[in-house]
Amino acid sequence: MEDKSMKGLNTFTDQTEAPKIDASRKMRIGIIGCGWIAGSHMDSYLKQPDVEIVAGADLIPGKAKAFMEKYGVTGAKTDYASHKEMIEDKSLELDAVSICTYNRQHAVPAIDALNAGINVLLEKPFTVTLEEAVEVVRAEKKSGKVLSIGFQPRMDANMKKIKEIVESGALGDVYYIQTGGGRRRGIPTPFGTTFIEDKTAGIGALGDIGCYSLDMVLNAIGYPKPLTVSGYVSNFFGKDPHYSGYRKDKAAEYADKFGVDDFGAGFVRLEGGIILDFRIAWAMNLDTPGDTIIMGTKGSLRIPSTECWNGTVGGPMKLYSEVAGSQVETVIPVINMKQGLFDLKIRTFLDACKNGTPAPVPSSQILYNQAIIDGISKSAALGREIEIVIPEI
Ligand SMILES: NC(=O)c1ccc[n+]([C@@H]2O[C@H](COP(=O)([O-])OP(=O)(O)OC[C@H]3O[C@@H](n4cnc5c(N)ncnc54)[C@H](O)[C@@H]3O)[C@@H](O)[C@H]2O)c1
Repeated sequence: MEDKSMKGLNTFTDQTEAPKIDASRKMRIGIIGCGWIAGSHMDSYLKQPDVEIVAGADLIPGKAKAFMEKYGVTGAKTDYASHKEMIEDKSLELDAVSICTYNRQHAVPAIDALNAGINVLLEKPFTVTLEEAVEVVRAEKKSGKVLSIGFQPRMDANMKKIKEIVESGALGDVYYIQTGGGRRRGIPTPFGTTFIEDKTAGIGALGDIGCYSLDMVLNAIGYPKPLTVSGYVSNFFGKDPHYSGYRKDKAAEYADKFGVDDFGAGFVRLEGGIILDFRIAWAMNLDTPGDTIIMGTKGSLRIPSTECWNGTVGGPMKLYSEVAGSQVETVIPVINMKQGLFDLKIRTFLDACKNGTPAPVPSSQILYNQAIIDGISKSAALGREIEIVIPEI
C-alpha cells in the first residue's frame, strides 16, 4: 500500500501558495501597445479577480478595438490615436498601465504614464539607451509610483535558487561569471519586423534575450555596478537574404530591413573586482555558446543553457566544491513551478501597486542591466573598451 505520509516529500515542486486577493476594489488597467506580448498580459490580467481592463491604445487604428474583442473584454475604451491620448483621458481613472510597445517606444510612454501618476509595468528590455532609462527612473522617482520591468524569469523558483545559493556563501567570493545564450535560427519575425528594424527595435538579441542572461547572474550577485565594457556586435545572419530562419517569401525584405544586432558579446568589469563575460545570439552556427557559470573562491555553479535561449534554467544545476580535500559535485534539482511565470509577473506588479511595496523587478537594478547593453553597443561602435558612466538620478 502506498505510504501517503511521504507524499509531497522530495518532489521539488515550488510550494509557494498564491496569496489571498482582496477583490473589493478593482484595479483599473490600461494596455499600451496591443500586439503580440500584450496578449500574454491580457491572459494574465483576466485571471485576476481584482482587475478591470478599462482601456487600450495602439498606433495602428482599430488594433486596440480588435484586441479587446479577441479577448472578450467589453466596455474598454480604445478610441485613442496614441498612448498619450489614453493617459490624458482622466475619465479612465487608471491605476496602472502595461506598456507592451516595441523597444523604441518604451521610454516615452513610461515617462508620460508616470508623470500622470499611473503605475507602470514596462516590458523588457527597459529601454534602448542608458540615457532613456535614466530619464524613466527620474520620472519614477518624481512620481512615487511603481515601475516594474517585465522580466518574468525572475519569478522562476530556479532563478531564486541561484540567488539563494550565492547568498548562502556556498560559492565564497564570486570573481568570474560567464553568461549568455543563443539560438541557432531564432531571429524573431513571427509578427513582422518590429523586432528587427532599427526604427522600432533599436537593439536586437542584446535587448531581446541578452537582458535575461544578464539579469540571471546580476540579480544573483546583488547587481554590482558595471564599470567598464569592451563590446562587440554583428548582424551576419540578419542581413543575409538567404538566412534559412526567415520565411522564404519575406527573406529579402527582412534582410534589407534588418537594422539591429543578431549577436552581441561583452567583457565587463563590475564593482567588487568581478569579471562578467557575456555573449548572446539570435542566430549562430552552434548549439549553445556555453552554460552560465558563476565561479567563486569556495565553489562554482554551472547553470545549463536552454537549447532555444529564453532566459530560464535548462536542467539541473551543478555546484562544484571541495569537502575535506575531496572535489565534489552537488546536483541542484530543477524545481517545477505550479504557477505560470507571466501570471506571477502580473500578480506581483498588482500587489506592489496595491500595497505600496517595492516593484518586483526594480528599475534601480535594471538600470545597470541597461547600462551594460548600452555600453556594449557604444563600445562596439567605437571599437574599444569604454567606461560605463551612469548619470546621477
Ligand atoms: N516578456 C516577454 O516574454 C516578451 C516577449 C515578447 C516581446 N516582449 C517585449 O514586448 C515589446 C513588444 O513586443 P511585441 O512582440 O508585442 O511587439 P508588436 O510589434 O507585436 O506590438 C507592439 C505594438 O505597440 C504599438 N505601439 C508602438 N508605439 C505605441 C505607442 N506610443 N502608443 C500605442 N501603441 C504603440 C504598435 O503599433 C504595435 O501594435 C517588445 O519590447 C518586446 O521586447 C516581451
